[in-house]
Amino acid sequence: MQSQRCMVESVGGIAMINVCRMLGFAGSIRKDSYNKSLLRAALELLPEDAALEVFDLEGIPIYNQDLENQPAEKLKEFKARLRSADAILIATPEYNYSIPGVLKNAIDCASRPYGDNAFAHKPVAIMGASPGMIGTARAQYHLRQCFVFLSCFVLNQPEVMVSFAQEKIDRDGKVTDQKTRELIKQLLENLVDWTRRLTSPK
Ligand SMILES: Cc1cc2nc3c(=O)[nH]c(=O)nc-3n(C[C@H](O)[C@H](O)[C@H](O)COP(=O)(O)O)c2cc1C
Repeated sequence: MQSQRCMVESVGGIAMINVCRMLGFAGSIRKDSYNKSLLRAALELLPEDAALEVFDLEGIPIYNQDLENQPAEKLKEFKARLRSADAILIATPEYNYSIPGVLKNAIDCASRPYGDNAFAHKPVAIMGASPGMIGTARAQYHLRQCFVFLSCFVLNQPEVMVSFAQEKIDRDGKVTDQKTRELIKQLLENLVDWTRRLTSPK
């Protein structure tokens, strides 16, 4: 079902740690996005047996079923990177109590044509930041709902819901709040562990 890259193997008695390759993307394309900052923090906080590539959703055209069989280059690239990743990491803003259109569009595009869902069976971790007090909780639960139909395995804990983001991310886009950094670190460690569990031979 999954690639076996994210496993610890013993070859000739020597432990070989294979790297868990994550693909990360933000549901915001704005330059100074708080959610892009969460991904930059994740790059700094990665476990040593993980790698993270960050993909920008800007340029994925609006989904049109008439054009499903003529995907744009950017969409082809997104789907290829999703497929080759061991796990997915998403940082989403909350727009009007749900996920932003840019994120929903990217998910819709990558899940089609029917039978060619690039998210299928992927382990997924979610985090999100907002200047508001709810910290993207409503958006994150909507996002989890999308992944039911797409047959993804979404990690449950920790829930990384960064409220009052302007107090935790500085003007240079660095996550400065220690508690937030610890939560992101834990999320990454749990995603590696979750991916291993899903890919271990029975
Ligand atoms: C159309 C729109 C709707 C929004 N709705 C919400 C919302 O429901 N809840 C919330 O906490 N923030 C909401 N916000 C504020 C966003 O959280 C804020 O713009 C945030 O910075 C977006 O994430 P980003 O910094 O990663 O771009 C909304 C912003 C926009 C533009």
